Amino acid sequence: MKAFGFSEYGAPTVFQEIDKEIKDPKPDQVQIEVMAFGINPYDILLRQGQFKEIRPLKFPFVPGTDLVGQVVKVGDEVTNFKVGDYVINYRPSGAYGERVNATADKVVKRPRTLSFLDAASLPTPGIAAYNAWHHFADVKDGDVIGIAGVTGLVGSLLAQMAKSQGHEVIGSASAANVEYAKWIGVDRFIAYDEEQDRSKFESSADVVFDATLGGHDDGLSDSLVKPGGQIVLIPNLKYDVKTPDVKVTHLIPGQGASNKEALEYWVELSKTWGVSIRVQNILKFTREDVVKAHELIEAHHSGKTVIQIERAHRTSFEGQKHAD
Ligand SMILES: NC(=O)c1ccc[n+]([C@@H]2O[C@H](COP(=O)([O-])OP(=O)(O)OC[C@H]3O[C@@H](n4cnc5c(N)ncnc54)[C@H](OP(=O)(O)O)[C@@H]3O)[C@@H](O)[C@H]2O)c1
Repeated sequence: MKAFGFSEYGAPTVFQEIDKEIKDPKPDQVQIEVMAFGINPYDILLRQGQFKEIRPLKFPFVPGTDLVGQVVKVGDEVTNFKVGDYVINYRPSGAYGERVNATADKVVKRPRTLSFLDAASLPTPGIAAYNAWHHFADVKDGDVIGIAGVTGLVGSLLAQMAKSQGHEVIGSASAANVEYAKWIGVDRFIAYDEEQDRSKFESSADVVFDATLGGHDDGLSDSLVKPGGQIVLIPNLKYDVKTPDVKVTHLIPGQGASNKEALEYWVELSKTWGVSIRVQNILKFTREDVVKAHELIEAHHSGKTVIQIERAHRTSFEGQKHAD
């Protein structure tokens, strides 16, 4: 099967097309034909070799953690999925390929309420937002929620979670994103590139999430939070807080809920409340576009980038009966 990966660390151009063998799924696995996969900043860091001490890669390495696809084979012990199901999978690597095998308990069914492209974009930011809220914040009923970076992937999911639970949300992003912020329900919007006077928002949120890219919020979370409140930092950074008695917590990847629990939360919320994810770039399954996707993220191009695998016809499921 066709995949894209690399055999050395370096620039986006290290990507090569790889002909990768895929075995039949193990008894507890399903085999998924990938329809689309999301590109994450984590993929870029792996390719650059920034994690080579803590996560040395075996080459050739095919990255990719977030995908949506269709089940094409089912292991003997799997009872909760059938051939033809549309599913979402979060995995350590391998999504940049035509097929993957995934342990069934790491897979959730894609609801019709999430488009395929949204579903491919959901896992990494969805798991981060879910854990930040449920395991690193102490949100009480009626708390006012502040979100620096409210229109980003993580920030917009946090805002929708907060609105679905009846919280008032104050959020910041650039002025260009005000309409999207309103659309996802943000009550009060701070345009960080236009709003010079922050005094009217000062000390107005009980819990503030810093979901800006790299945590560069120019001190906004500190000015938003009330004395005695809480700041939850999504990016890994040191943050200097001047507001008195503020509890600062860091989201630690891998700690918190199981990934499946987090994904199931978003699946349910998409059915009961509705979930919006903004996909900005839809690219093709070619080496040129995989390189381009990495270049876009390196250039801090905002919005989600998804690679879509187009097929002239869908797989015939190798002799098995199609799902309804
Ligand atoms: N620990 C984890 O598991 C985990 C998982 C996912 C993400 N993250 C981290 O979380 C952060 C957010 O990720 P993301 O994918 O949501 O990023 P993103 O989609 O690029 O969103 C960044 C947001 O920050 C806003 N922003 C930029 N500069 C700002 C400023 N000075 N003040 C206020 N807002 C500002 C952007 O608004 P404009 O576009 O209008 O400028 C945008 O709304 C990243 O650092 C990422 O690495 C961590």
